[in-house]
Amino acid sequence: MNIPAVTPGLKQRLNVPDYVQNAALIAWVGRMADLCQPQRVHWCDGSQAEYERLCEQLVQAGTFLRLDPAKRPGSFLARSDPSDVARVEDRTFICSERQEDAGPTNNWVPPQEMRARLQPLFDGCMRGRTMYVIPFSMGPLGSPIAHIGVELSDSGYVAANMKLMTRMGRGAIQALGESGAFVPCMHSVGAPLQPGEKDRTAWPCNPQVKYIVHYPETREIWSYGSGYGGNALLGKKCFALRIASSMGREQGWLAEHMLILGVTSPQGKKYHVAAAFPSACGKTNFSMLVPPSGFDGWKVTTIGDDIAWIKPGAGGRLYAINPEAGYFGVAPGTNLLTNPNCMASLNENVIFTNVALTDEGDVWWEGMEKDAGDVIPARLIDWQGNHWTPADGQAGRKAAHPNARFTVAATNNPALDAAWDDPAGVPIDAFIFGGRRSTTVPLVTEARNWTEGVYMAATMGSETTAAAFGAQGVVRRDPFAMLPFCGYNMADYFGHWLKLGTRLHAQGAWLPAIYCVNWFRKNESGKFVWPGYGENMRVLKWIIDRAEGRAAGRPTMFGIAPEYGEINWAGLDFSPAQFATVTSIDHEAWQQEFQLHDELFEQLAQGLPQALPNTKAAMQARLATLAH
Ligand code: OXD
Ligand code: MN
Repeated sequence: MNIPAVTPGLKQRLNVPDYVQNAALIAWVGRMADLCQPQRVHWCDGSQAEYERLCEQLVQAGTFLRLDPAKRPGSFLARSDPSDVARVEDRTFICSERQEDAGPTNNWVPPQEMRARLQPLFDGCMRGRTMYVIPFSMGPLGSPIAHIGVELSDSGYVAANMKLMTRMGRGAIQALGESGAFVPCMHSVGAPLQPGEKDRTAWPCNPQVKYIVHYPETREIWSYGSGYGGNALLGKKCFALRIASSMGREQGWLAEHMLILGVTSPQGKKYHVAAAFPSACGKTNFSMLVPPSGFDGWKVTTIGDDIAWIKPGAGGRLYAINPEAGYFGVAPGTNLLTNPNCMASLNENVIFTNVALTDEGDVWWEGMEKDAGDVIPARLIDWQGNHWTPADGQAGRKAAHPNARFTVAATNNPALDAAWDDPAGVPIDAFIFGGRRSTTVPLVTEARNWTEGVYMAATMGSETTAAAFGAQGVVRRDPFAMLPFCGYNMADYFGHWLKLGTRLHAQGAWLPAIYCVNWFRKNESGKFVWPGYGENMRVLKWIIDRAEGRAAGRPTMFGIAPEYGEINWAGLDFSPAQFATVTSIDHEAWQQEFQLHDELFEQLAQGLPQALPNTKAAMQARLATLAH
């Protein structure tokens, strides 16, 4: 093996702490420091003292505002540049050697061309700034499912967020050892300072040029120009989904945009469910669900709220870990009614980004009034630092940005599962896939088999919300909720799921059942019919009853559906007619739906597994027999 030479001079120049022994890491940091020319290099040890120092520096720089220590102890508010408020999908690239390996749903540029474009941008990009070396483990330290990454960033905000979001610091360096491999994650806000120049903004970024680049073959991430969320916290979408999905394809495992939850019955039997929903469909809420009345003795616990890494264990059973150690969740809409566990998680030690500030030095966002007697504070400072009154709200100006976020360690969550940090992961009993559909897709159906489940997940769609994508109510296909996050050709990804199922089945392994859900069906007056939130427990319970052989269900054109009488309705007034509204399969609507599936399959024709059109044909044949 080619061990790079690490001289004492290099170690001194880079401030390398003694406990760092990985020569490849030191050599890479040296090369990147030569390229980016930071003023200094800081190796993050992940300690609490370091976190507090970082936060204090961010307060001094104006990036953080310390919230009232009595109301939100240890918490801060950051306001981003108005041009830097969300992930930038149109600036996100999968630069595989061959375009067909990125597939038609990813932006692609040949790696050599992209490297030539990025080289001048990164040249000197950290002048006048600190380069933070941020070692992190995605997954419990030492877990056979976990992997190590190292992010180099010139943003203190990123370093502080990575402390809450990942297992960051010395532990990751120890797990790496002298010769362990890591995913190199380069990040710069793209705003170098001239000698003596001070930042003129508290949120340095590059409003003109942004690149979020992945090289799947060499497993590298290069992010330039943004300091926000998934663009900058590179462990999350870039590593744990895009790079990891491509690693999983090579190595026979799954990196998925899924929450993981545990459900414990009153008898103490525990089940684990992994569920994929597109962004902004309530994954955090579902992962922290509080069972409603009528479910005495049932308990739901959170393993993860956004990402699952799933590997076959002994005997081929699928085990999942949450690679993250914190939540970067959407704040607006969260309140004591929609997610009491989340609100409790936000009591202290939180970084808020782009929420509104109250006169008392606390935070506020749209939706908080719902559990406060609909009272909206008379005065606020909005996410851009301007004065705001309820009249501004009536005029359509939001106090918090719709994509305002909280960053919080998982350990703040009162519903955290005892096994959340278990290196072995948790055995998965069921997969759930769901989008936001006001029509067509029923409340819940179980796929007849793995292939039908893959079909349901592959053809998943979700209606866009105004906040995220402009036009409202347009169905965007979001296969497996992975459209923005799959690091390779989506058709090959379907093939990977199918092959994994076939391989495990051949091994005699037990495979989880696959469910398709839709909490968002509306009635003719445009109102949601299903109450959602904690009431989703009723669907979870049916899923468990199916696993236990306690519910026969009813075969439909699109999987097995529950009978009205199979759902526990205790504590909820929900009539058979309402149930029919959320479970009906409309002949016309499904004919149109299948046309949309055809469009998806045409787009993904190259490499599309034949099993998917075959499954569609079987469904259409069943649809044709329905009365209409
Ligand atoms: C997220 C997303 O932030 O999916 O989790 O966009
Ligand atoms: Mn997500």
